[in-house]
Amino acid sequence: MKAARAAIILAAGKSTRMKSSRSKVLHHIGGRSMLSWVANLARSVDADKIVCVVGEANVDVRAAAEALGLDIAVQEPQLGTGHAVDCAKAALGDFSGQVAVLYADTPLIEPSTLEHVFDALDTADVAVLGFEPEDAGAYGRLIVEGDDLVAIVEAKDASAEQLAVGLCNSGVMAASAADMFSAVARVDKNNAKGEYYLTDIVEILRGDGKRAIVVKASETEVMGVNSRPDLALAERAFQDRMRSRMMEAGVTLRDPDTTYFAYDTVIAADADIGANCVFGPNVKIGGNTVIHPFCHIEGTQIGEGAQIGPFARLRPGTELGDTTKVGNFVETKKAKVGNCSKINHLSYIGDAVLGEGVNVGAGTITCNYDGFNKHMTQIGDGAFIGTNSSLVAPVKIGSGAYLGSGGVITENVPDDALAVARAKQVNKDGWAKRYRVAQAKRKSSKRKS
Ligand code: UD1
Ligand code: MG
Repeated sequence: MKAARAAIILAAGKSTRMKSSRSKVLHHIGGRSMLSWVANLARSVDADKIVCVVGEANVDVRAAAEALGLDIAVQEPQLGTGHAVDCAKAALGDFSGQVAVLYADTPLIEPSTLEHVFDALDTADVAVLGFEPEDAGAYGRLIVEGDDLVAIVEAKDASAEQLAVGLCNSGVMAASAADMFSAVARVDKNNAKGEYYLTDIVEILRGDGKRAIVVKASETEVMGVNSRPDLALAERAFQDRMRSRMMEAGVTLRDPDTTYFAYDTVIAADADIGANCVFGPNVKIGGNTVIHPFCHIEGTQIGEGAQIGPFARLRPGTELGDTTKVGNFVETKKAKVGNCSKINHLSYIGDAVLGEGVNVGAGTITCNYDGFNKHMTQIGDGAFIGTNSSLVAPVKIGSGAYLGSGGVITENVPDDALAVARAKQVNKDGWAKRYRVAQAKRKSSKRKS
């Protein structure tokens, strides 16, 4: 039987290098916070209990962690990673399964990788996630003998020989709760930084006759974020990962480097995505749908075989049926659009429900906001909305109705009716010619005087 799992997420650091009024772990990658990424990582390996360690000053992190349903442990003052884990002990109560330590500022670890870390506890007592960075720099070095990890040495405490080791500590490690907390309680701070190092538990547990091993990950996966350039690198790494996954799953990306996804973007096979499209959170797109270049899409569901853009902005609450068309310079928000309907040019459709086979002419605007409240526009199946219509909500256009161009529609239109809501045209014969002659005369008499 699989042992119960818990995770401790360390997030008590100060994050000064981010130069932000927000704590760094609340900055977003792929549309969600780093903290949320790590909480989801823990959930993805079935951690029943997740404790987030925060400092007293990290009020925003605490609130975000609570909103994510995490348990909270306060570490004050911050005396090191070992001390941080020790502070989480009370929050785990009598939990007796396996515990992984994660960092809130290391958001890109794959669930399968953390799964391997836990799996390693089948043959060892401590498993540490290691990697071989291009530049080992200030990372802790993993000292290995054969298949065993014998120690983790912090760069500041390392000998020249140890510094030459290329295998480094990502920070992620797992052990049974019993081993983790018994070892952490014995960590001291006799080291270069004068901190309680979590990394010391490897030697402590080996002293108890226990075994430690290394599980390897790629450098990109364990990339930590401390600054804005790091954030940009992590975002790029995430986007590259999503781009590859989309293409592997059968989605055409015309220019992958300029296509931006959110953590939860779902696109079916045979969709075709043009250059320079941005997908915000909560987007689902059906097969064979074409998204032409320069679209911004968030909180939107699109059916199969739709044609979107170029230059469309689809905002949250947009639901487009199969084979719908939304063309250039169209904005939608909270708009449900039935199958085969078209909104081809220059329109704003907000707080609206459109039936099937509706044709919305160029320049149509739903006037949904009266300065205080939002109101609904309803358009029945097969209605034809003439060019440059203003639909003053709340308003209902019946099925099969026909709106003459340029109308300001303030009243409901019955099924199959024609609505014309504009001033009647007046033609004055010869007026333009008389006007031109009169103006020319006036101008020449002025010049003479
Ligand atoms: C740590 C590891 C190092 C590893 C590196 C990977 C130790 C002693 N060293 O070093 O081997 O290569 O991470 O990035 O563990 N934190 C707290 N409370 C504290 C101190 C830290 O919550 O008192 C949190 C930080 O917010 C951060 C994480 O723990 O999320 C790591 O702390 P940091 O100070 O960055 O550790 P490093 O010195 O980088
Ligand atoms: Mg660090």
